[in-house]
Amino acid sequence: MNQVIYASRKGNTKKVAEFIARGLGVKPEAVGPATKIEHADVLFVGGALYAGGIDGKLRTFLETLKSGQVDKVVTFSTSAGGKTILSAVKSILEPKNIKVADEAFYCKGSFLCINMGRPNEEDLKHAEDFAKKVAAL
Ligand SMILES: Cc1cc2nc3c(=O)[nH]c(=O)nc-3n(C[C@H](O)[C@H](O)[C@H](O)COP(=O)(O)O)c2cc1C
Repeated sequence: MNQVIYASRKGNTKKVAEFIARGLGVKPEAVGPATKIEHADVLFVGGALYAGGIDGKLRTFLETLKSGQVDKVVTFSTSAGGKTILSAVKSILEPKNIKVADEAFYCKGSFLCINMGRPNEEDLKHAEDFAKKVAAL
């Protein structure tokens, strides 16, 4: 079973999460105190960059994740400038021996007047295709 959780303050990463989840045939879940992972083969974790860092709720979730709960984590991100959440996620999970894939999905996200309209239709199609590809591995 694959699972999709995400943090999104302005809706960009939420849109991507919906298409990642569509590619997997599951429902995405906004991360929060009630988020529970029974066991995920692949846990897709989505987030954005805010002042160079990841969302606090997402960080808390990752800090409480245990190695037995997931076989592998795959990340997806949006940001204005091109930075992804991958290194932040790795720095939290790898010390706990949770595998985080180097291959990740990223697309630009709108922010004020930067990257207007992103993610766009093409970005979302790429997100769906990325999820299908990972699921088929
Ligand atoms: C308060 C705030 C701070 C941000 N800081 C950064 C940043 O440091 N680097 C960056 O590339 N984008 C930054 N952005 C842009 C967001 O990463 C981008 O808009 C992202 O798509 C937002 O995702 P969301 O709609 O899922 O919240 C920032 C956006 C906001 C609202």
